[in-house]
Amino acid sequence: MAIKPVLRYGDPKLLKKSRPIKQFDTPELHSLIQDMKDTMHSLNGAGLAAPQIGVNLQLVIFGSQDNPRYPDADAVPFTILINPKLTFVNDTQEEGWEGCLSVPGMRGLVPRYVQLKYQGWDPFGKRISRVAEGFHARVVQHECDHLQGILYPMRIPDLSYFGFNDALFPGQILEED
Ligand code: NI
Repeated sequence: MAIKPVLRYGDPKLLKKSRPIKQFDTPELHSLIQDMKDTMHSLNGAGLAAPQIGVNLQLVIFGSQDNPRYPDADAVPFTILINPKLTFVNDTQEEGWEGCLSVPGMRGLVPRYVQLKYQGWDPFGKRISRVAEGFHARVVQHECDHLQGILYPMRIPDLSYFGFNDALFPGQILEED
């Protein structure tokens, strides 16, 4: 078990494209996933991508149930997703507030596709294929963006809706990132 430091926005490693994983079910892969789980849970994150702990591979984890950082969000099943591919079902987008463990203490209003299909593999090389919508679809898009070197502030169309949690939401109890 190891909690790793999370790279912060500005670190050039976060801007690189990640490489696909070629071998499943290896001790190195399981150990990396355990580190990511420990790190995400220690920070109450809804998701984490491998490049955020400095590993340039196409691996994301996400899941949220009773997360104090996202108290109103729908439950998202805990998922380990490798070499993901997203397909958008239609053009409908909606805006929603996002945070990121690499941008601590801040939130921004980001448009995302409402519905999507995501495909990839689990750590044992078993196929994953799911449809998702709403917060679940948002989390998947946010995490998979990390694999392309994209962080959510780059997707904010109006920077009036980007700022510090306590300034944007005064008086509301939001967990510190
Ligand atoms: Ni993030």
